[in-house]
Amino acid sequence: MAVRVRIVGVGMGPHQVTPEAADALRAADYAIAADKGPDDGLLAVRREIAAAHDLPVVAVPDPKRDRQPEGDGAYVGAVAHWHAARVAAYEAVLAERGGTAAFLVWGDPAFYDSTIRIVESIAARGVVEVEYDVLPGISALQLLAARSRIVLHDVGQPLHVTTGRLLAAAVAGGQTNIAVLLNRSVELDGLEDWTIWWGANLGAAGERLVSGRVGDVAEAVVAARDAAKAEAGWVMDLFLLRAPAPGQDDDGAA
Ligand SMILES: C[S@@+](CC[C@H](N)C(=O)[O-])C[C@H]1O[C@@H](n2cnc3c(N)ncnc32)[C@H](O)[C@@H]1O
Repeated sequence: MAVRVRIVGVGMGPHQVTPEAADALRAADYAIAADKGPDDGLLAVRREIAAAHDLPVVAVPDPKRDRQPEGDGAYVGAVAHWHAARVAAYEAVLAERGGTAAFLVWGDPAFYDSTIRIVESIAARGVVEVEYDVLPGISALQLLAARSRIVLHDVGQPLHVTTGRLLAAAVAGGQTNIAVLLNRSVELDGLEDWTIWWGANLGAAGERLVSGRVGDVAEAVVAARDAAKAEAGWVMDLFLLRAPAPGQDDDGAA
C-alpha cells in the first residue's frame, strides 16, 4: 500500500495554522522534521505545532550542506547534493513506518522550500510507493504585506521574487518591484531612492518592521536586524523594494 504524504504549510507559527492544515495534522500518523542540531529553532516550533495536534515527530538529522561552494554552478550543485542526501534519509523513514506522514513546512511550500521537490524525488525513485498532496500556508511574503499594510505591487504591475544573492542581478536586469528573501545581510548600496518595506522575525519573537526611502532608513534596517537577532537569538528577514516612479525627483515629488 502506498505511503500517504501530506506537505503542510504551517504559516509563520502555531497561531497561523489554518483549519485545513490542522485537520491534516490531526489525521496524520507522524511528522517528519529535519533536525539541524541543538539550536534548531524551527524544529522546536514544528514540535510545538505537532504537539498541539497530537502528532508524534520523527526528527531526522539533516545532512550537512556546503554553504560556501566555489565555482560556476557550485551553489546549485551543493543544493542538489544536499537534496539527494535528504531524499535518502526521508525515504528510509517512510519505508520503515508507512502510514500517513506529514511534513510541516515553514510558511508556504511554494516559496523557497524544497519539500515538494524532495517528495517528488522519493516518488520518482519508486523504492517507496508514495501518494502526496500539498496544503498551503501563510508565507512570510504575505505577512510582510499584511503587517506593512501594502499590496506587493502597483495596480496591474508585476512582482519579482528573488533572493538576496540575486538582488543585484534583478536590479541590473531592469526589475523595479522586487521581493527579496534569504538574506545573509541587507545590501542596498546604489538603491538610495528606492522605497523599502522590510520585516524580520514576523509573527515571532523579535518582530521588527522598517519602511521608507532606502537612503533614509538603511541604517535603521541594520539596527533593527541586529535588535531582532539579539532579542530572539536568530533572525529571518525579507523586504520589498520598489524603484522611484519615472519622473519622480529625489524628494519624491512628481
Ligand atoms: C527557506 S525560505 C522559506 C520561505 C517560506 N516557505 C515562506 O513561505 O515564507 C526562508 C526565508 O523566508 C523568509 N522568512 C521566513 N520566515 C520569516 C519570518 N518569520 N520573518 C521574516 N522573514 C521570514 C526569510 O527571507 C527567510 O530567509
